[in-house]
Amino acid sequence: MAASSDAPLVIVTRKLPEAVERRMSELFNVRLNESDEPMDRAALMKAVEEADVLVPTITDPVDRAVLSRAGEQCRLIANFGNGVDHIDLKTAWQRGITVTNTPGVLTDDTADMAMALILAVPRRLAEGARFLREVKGEWSGWSPTWMLGQRITGKRLGIIGMGRIGQAVARRAKAFGLEIHYHGRRQLDPLTEDDLEATYWDSLDRMLPRMDIVTVHTPHTPATFHLLSARRLKLMKPTAYLVNTARGEVVDENALVRMLEAGEIAGAGLDVFEHEPTVNPRLLDRQNVVLLPHMASNTLEGRMEMGEKVLVNIKTFCDGHRPPDRVLPNVL
Ligand code: 8YV
Repeated sequence: MAASSDAPLVIVTRKLPEAVERRMSELFNVRLNESDEPMDRAALMKAVEEADVLVPTITDPVDRAVLSRAGEQCRLIANFGNGVDHIDLKTAWQRGITVTNTPGVLTDDTADMAMALILAVPRRLAEGARFLREVKGEWSGWSPTWMLGQRITGKRLGIIGMGRIGQAVARRAKAFGLEIHYHGRRQLDPLTEDDLEATYWDSLDRMLPRMDIVTVHTPHTPATFHLLSARRLKLMKPTAYLVNTARGEVVDENALVRMLEAGEIAGAGLDVFEHEPTVNPRLLDRQNVVLLPHMASNTLEGRMEMGEKVLVNIKTFCDGHRPPDRVLPNVL
């Protein structure tokens, strides 16, 4: 059943799960992206000129220039994704354009992948898997001191950003016998802190030198850009590991690469990169680095639930109500 001709025009910038696109077509006049080719700037500007609702993703820089082309009728940007650092929230707010995201539904998936990296890097999982393929099975067999990693149980995990995903990682890490430490804008309420057996550090500079593994779970905002600067990375122990499934811009990647090359940090697990989709070539050769192509939330269930959230945000907004997942600019 197609939407009525006077239904809002919803322009979707990337290919979404079939069922989500089908439901969207039943509710709204939709312009889909069958090829899944990312839109270039001209196409993105044309989309905001014509759409009532834009559905972008992380690959669409909805910045001031793009927003300046938004038509009077374009009142909602319903992001397919949790992070909105690719959207100029302040300009959207100033133009009276509402922005929504899809929080919560990818918390467990992202936390699972962060935990996978927290286990994989110190235990050299990817190295071992790569080795057998590289030698095409020509393996001379077990040796007592070969491919030794670092134990996880009993080590100190430092979580930067104790929001939904940070707390989900803490729950998983606690089950693996890690000691939970965290730093963030706010201290957790005592009950949650107690439940997670988590120690709060009001100073990141004081937390970093004492951690065995550090994992990043902050959004990328002007305040968190290079939060892990060259100076801060140097505070970490040379035996420590860094995991990042949040945003590449939170870490000074060049500084991290220099420290990895100098052996001033034991290894890293990276799902996100400062200049995505460009991955610093000096990372590609590092044996003690696990690299993933921004796939921490990549589950079919998660994508379906993200789609459902986008549908609900658009429907409630178009029905004249405040959408459930509204994002407000930090400046407010
Ligand atoms: C999404 C992510 O897949 O939600 C986020 O912030 O980084 C990923 O989980 C991507 O952003 C889709 O836009």
